[in-house]
Amino acid sequence: MKIENYLDKLDKPIMLKIADRVKETSNVDTFYFNYCLNSQPGQFVMLWLPGINEKPFSIAYDTGELFGLAIAQVGAFTEELFQKKVGERVGIRGPYGRPFWKEKDAKNVVMVGGGYGVAPLATLAEELTTKGVKVHFINGARSKGLLLFTDRLKQLDVKLYTTTNDGSYGEKGIVTDSFKKILKQEKIDLVYCCGKEQMEKAMFDLCEEAGVNAQISVERYMKCGIGICGACSVDGTGAPTCQKGPVLESATLRKITEFGKYHRGGSGKKEYFR
Ligand SMILES: Cc1cc2nc3c(=O)[nH]c(=O)nc-3n(C[C@H](O)[C@H](O)[C@H](O)COP(=O)(O)OP(=O)(O)OC[C@H]3O[C@@H](n4cnc5c(N)ncnc54)[C@H](O)[C@@H]3O)c2cc1C
Ligand code: FES
Repeated sequence: MKIENYLDKLDKPIMLKIADRVKETSNVDTFYFNYCLNSQPGQFVMLWLPGINEKPFSIAYDTGELFGLAIAQVGAFTEELFQKKVGERVGIRGPYGRPFWKEKDAKNVVMVGGGYGVAPLATLAEELTTKGVKVHFINGARSKGLLLFTDRLKQLDVKLYTTTNDGSYGEKGIVTDSFKKILKQEKIDLVYCCGKEQMEKAMFDLCEEAGVNAQISVERYMKCGIGICGACSVDGTGAPTCQKGPVLESATLRKITEFGKYHRGGSGKKEYFR
């Protein structure tokens, strides 16, 4: 294919106005855009600040008429984004990536979210509960002020378990404690998980012990978001997680040798999880 034709196929960012901004926790805001994104739970968009950078964010809401991104202010890029006011424009490309999916025989499922990882799972729960799936939803954070979407989750037809490390809200402990309790009482067909990788690995190990299949969203450093640059490829399979993921199932996770151990930063250097 000629390079010009190839370039024609690349998505270009659409400059969308920030339609609304809602403060969710001490460091997370949801940014809303009036646009039909047509995404599925677990997919992400690339958000571009011209002259600064472009970064991936999961889709926290998609009603068909508007979509929302729940974004944590953590570093230089998100600090710039948090300076933006309603009415200002940012670039959006996407939706990209492999979403969570419904498995035909999975009638009793557990969803485990930590931090902004709750966002795609809340959307998934909204969908699956209308399709007759029983959902146990575990929402975890270090303390009450960091719990995301508490009110949104209460409105859902799910069995909700909330844990905080310091016991300031819900059960004192970590999400794996709640999962172990559920496993003692119910036969679970599938686990969906999104959050910090150490938590995801602990959940994955418990699922493996219990013989329960899992779908887990794995975040890697992303630059192009469409399978070209290789920044997000993982050791063990070499697959780009922006295309083959971010949602990966147990059979694939078993082959990823870096899962739960390290990821690569922007320069490609290994950064170990602590
Ligand atoms: C598929 C996917 C979905 C994501 N969804 C969300 C979300 O819904 N909400 C949210 O707040 N964050 C999300 N992130 C993470 C978000 O992209 C980073 O937190 C953001 O890029 C940080 O930029 P920064 O300059 O503010 O912070 P930095 O100081 O640059 O980085 C802080 C952390 O973010 C990671 N990070 C930085 N740049 C990237 C990048 N280009 N790609 C992936 N990780 C990066 C770093 O490894 C570091 O751990 C997602 C990442 C991926 C891969
Ligand atoms: S981010 Fe470029 S290949 Fe995945």
